[in-house]
Amino acid sequence: MGKKFEITDENREELLKEIKIHLKSPGPLLPILHSAQRIFKCIPIPVQKLISEYTDVSIAEINGIVTFYSSFSLYPKGKHVLGVCLGTPCYVRGSQIILDAVKNELGINVGETTKDGYFTLEAIRCIGTCGMAPVMSFDEEVYGEVDVTKAKRIIKNARGK
Ligand code: FES
Repeated sequence: MGKKFEITDENREELLKEIKIHLKSPGPLLPILHSAQRIFKCIPIPVQKLISEYTDVSIAEINGIVTFYSSFSLYPKGKHVLGVCLGTPCYVRGSQIILDAVKNELGINVGETTKDGYFTLEAIRCIGTCGMAPVMSFDEEVYGEVDVTKAKRIIKNARGK
C-alpha cells in the first residue's frame, strides 16, 4: 500500500499565502506550482483543486503543466526512486515482467511510495540506453540487462542506502 497524501491546515495556509503573493505579479501560475511542490513535495489533484479555486485557472490546465514539467510530481516521492523502462526496446525484452516483479516485491503500484517512504516506483520512458535493454534505474544510476533476479538484487542493495 502506498503512503496516503494529506493536506494539513498548516500546509494549506502556507500555500494560500504564497498564492496571494504570486498573484500580485504577472504569470503567477508557475511560481505558485513551484511553491506547492516545495510545500507538499508533490501536486496531486486535491492540491490542484485548491490552486484552481484561488487562481481561476482550470484543473485541466494545471494538471497539464504538472504532468509536463519534470520538476513537478503528482504524487509524493520517497527517499529513492526506482524506475523500470517501458520504452519499446525494453518492453519487447521483458520489462513488463520486471515491473510486475518489482511491484510485488515492494507491495506498491506504479506511482506509489512504500509506507516507510523509502521507495517510489515509476514506469519510465526510454532513457537512451536501449542497447542494454531491459533497463532499470535507481535514482541517477542505470542498470542494464535486468532480469527478475537482478531487479530483486538492486532493490536489496538499495535498502541499505
Ligand atoms: S527503451 Fe528503455 S532505455 Fe530505451
